[in-house]
Amino acid sequence: MARSETQVGIVGAGPAGLMLSHLLHLNGISSIILEARSRAYCEERVRAGVLEHTSVEMLRQAGVAGRLDREGLRHEGIELGLRGQRHRIPFVELTGKFVTVYGQQEVVKDLIARRLADGGDLRFECGTVSLRGIESAKPTIRIEKDGNIDEIRCDYIAGCDGFHGISRSSFPDGALTVYERNYPFAWLGILAEAPTSREELLYMHHERGFSLYSMRSPRITRLYLQCRPDENINEWSDDRIWSELHTRLGCADGWHPTEGPVLQKGVTGMRSFVVEPLQHGRLFLAGDAAHIVPPTGAKGMNLAFADVYYLAEALRALYAENDPEKLRRYSETCLRRIWKAQRFSWWMTSLLHRFEEDSPFDRRRQLAELEYVMSSRAAATSLAENYVGLPLEVSAPIERGAVDHPANY
Ligand code: FAD
Ligand code: DHB
Repeated sequence: MARSETQVGIVGAGPAGLMLSHLLHLNGISSIILEARSRAYCEERVRAGVLEHTSVEMLRQAGVAGRLDREGLRHEGIELGLRGQRHRIPFVELTGKFVTVYGQQEVVKDLIARRLADGGDLRFECGTVSLRGIESAKPTIRIEKDGNIDEIRCDYIAGCDGFHGISRSSFPDGALTVYERNYPFAWLGILAEAPTSREELLYMHHERGFSLYSMRSPRITRLYLQCRPDENINEWSDDRIWSELHTRLGCADGWHPTEGPVLQKGVTGMRSFVVEPLQHGRLFLAGDAAHIVPPTGAKGMNLAFADVYYLAEALRALYAENDPEKLRRYSETCLRRIWKAQRFSWWMTSLLHRFEEDSPFDRRRQLAELEYVMSSRAAATSLAENYVGLPLEVSAPIERGAVDHPANY
């Protein structure tokens, strides 16, 4: 059995685990990342694409925004579409802020490259991970691969292993409360080698279901169609996908998405999911391991960054200043932001999708709400300030004794 030690053991090399490891490194705190998949798999997995203003600032301050600043697309607004008409929500005019379109896999590539250049310990295709002694002073990550067992003794463990990881299920029975909502639809997404023909994202309401026009670069478009949750992707030929995209996205002024070869396609389910608290003993959850949002508000990766920003700062305060307060309050600090992002993601989803079970009253109400957002500066400002990202709480208000779950360091 091989044994090693680190201050923070991190499970998962997605945006949360990689960013946490980098932020800890900047603060002189050691970490080891255990990742089940290969480096190539992590770097090629096509997922989110919109970075909040807040996330871009975080990447810049952490010195990992070089390529993002060169290649990221600055978006100063989005468009909402209804009955073939588009209405722009001007973020900069309403909030002074903008978002950046830059693929999640590009962020992941940049963070992996930086961690390796800094001598980081990243173990891809690590084998089967299990967590031991999370209530003890020295929790352990146990890794089993090809009949060999490795153990990593840690001060703390960060569960950054996504929704299907093992960290959340390592909490003892009864320690977590789950808050969940499922949606009766999913998104069929494609990546196409087609030149962009709009400058900004277009979120389109349509009686056949929601659709979204997005992009990754001036030559690559990313498009989504609302579909059934059990949709069989094999029943969707490229021709069928483009035909449906033209029907839903086509505008009264004659605009249609430009077609091109489909590089990748897949179906993503939609759910809202939060566990509370995010900590038990010395195990801390961050990112999709703790929460999932429906993708309409483009919040998933951004929330993962916010969690690890708080976690890294809390660990810095503990190691550098011997102050455990921020770590003790990690869960409640994160949850305040998580629930605001949950609310916004649920709201954007409710505003734009077709809900089969809706009554004629519900449909009229939904259209009235969309028309309100398109016509009221106050309503548009609310959308804009949530979309660009609410400010990070720099230091949480400290009300000693207000924590309602046991802290155990
Ligand atoms: P992840 O990116 O899931 O990273 C977790 C990592 O842990 C993975 O690399 C995984 O391989 C690893 N891992 C898992 N289990 C183990 C284990 N037992 N041992 C070791 N390693 C393990 N958000 C949006 O905003 N817009 C989108 O369009 C969008 N599309 C998405 C499409 C899909 C198919 C999915 C699944 C998510 C999508 N999201 C989207 C959400 C967004 O991508 C996530 O919120 C983001 O990836 C969260 O980052 P994370 O680091 O917390 O988790
Ligand atoms: C993208 C994904 C989203 O969920 C969203 O709301 C906007 C853009 C994208 O993949 O480009």
